[in-house]
Amino acid sequence: MKAFVTGGAGYIGSVCVEELLNAGHEVTVFDNLSEGHRGAVDNRAVFIQGRLSDEPAVTQSIKDASPEVIVHFAANALVGESMANPGKYFRNNVAHGLNLLDAAVACGVRKFVFSSTCATYGPPETVPMTEDLPQRPINPYGESKLMFERLLHWYQEIHGLQFVAFRYFNAAGASMQFGEHHRIETHLIPNVLKVPLGQAAHCEIFGTDYPTPDGTCIRDYIHVIDLAQAHILAMTPGKRGFFNLGNGDGYSVREVISTCEKVCGRKIPVIEKPRRPGDPPKLIASAEKARVELGWEPQFPKLDQIVASAWEWHKKHPNGYTA
Ligand code: UFG
Repeated sequence: MKAFVTGGAGYIGSVCVEELLNAGHEVTVFDNLSEGHRGAVDNRAVFIQGRLSDEPAVTQSIKDASPEVIVHFAANALVGESMANPGKYFRNNVAHGLNLLDAAVACGVRKFVFSSTCATYGPPETVPMTEDLPQRPINPYGESKLMFERLLHWYQEIHGLQFVAFRYFNAAGASMQFGEHHRIETHLIPNVLKVPLGQAAHCEIFGTDYPTPDGTCIRDYIHVIDLAQAHILAMTPGKRGFFNLGNGDGYSVREVISTCEKVCGRKIPVIEKPRRPGDPPKLIASAEKARVELGWEPQFPKLDQIVASAWEWHKKHPNGYTA
């Protein structure tokens, strides 16, 4: 199929583009490079540097690419930043995303695959979390993604634009070629790995008094290649709806750090800090629906496999995509 991928120069987008190409699809990447990197775009893809706020450019790019499917990753995705600057999140993730939906309809595209997040649920009453739990986001980032989910519902109803929306849990790991490089890094695994890379003296734990066995937050880490594979399955005609993507295993922050120590073979000094605002204590997915309805089967479900792939990538690219 021909795929038009927004945000294909970002972390998850870059690996998804690589996997789409490996599976024989044709890919056009549309990215403004505000968060992404030109070096993260697979050289087999067509690259367009453009902004979703520029509706004529979006429409023209889609016309030129004539895709059967749009895969939409482009978004701002920092919870903390969204609490300080909600307008940025509603503008970029909702309003500018709407340009893409209108362009999809105008150009006759029939399928849309969307990167949503478990942040649309807010703190859950039960884990593992299924797709039918109430969605009560506690930050503008989660709210913006939920708003876009609602737009998708109406565009499918009214315009027949079929969608699959994936609610990611914690994406981590790397492919051989592409990995995680954010200009401002807030994520746990890349921050912990800065210590064995020699770029930090210690890592930080945000909160040690949560109601969890070791007092630190629990998350469900999912390999970025497994996320990418789900997008390919979603492109199969007739597949639609909302799906969680996670492994169904929870690891605490301390467990992640000790896995990093094992994988790197080095002690990683830790500083304990207060809680980070907006962090739910425990998020674990049930991805049963994706397994049953899409036939999705993670290839790298274990945390040490996920961390090992990240470590290999960071060792080869200690400065990420910066030359
Ligand atoms: N953490 C630390 N030290 C760090 C970084 C993170 O202790 O240096 C902790 C966090 O406080 C949190 C856990 O590690 O408890 C995981 O934090 P991440 O920032 O790696 O990931 P989040 O769970 O906060 O965020 C992820 C996605 C978001 C998504 C969110 C849903 O990155 O896009 O899950 O809750 F919205």
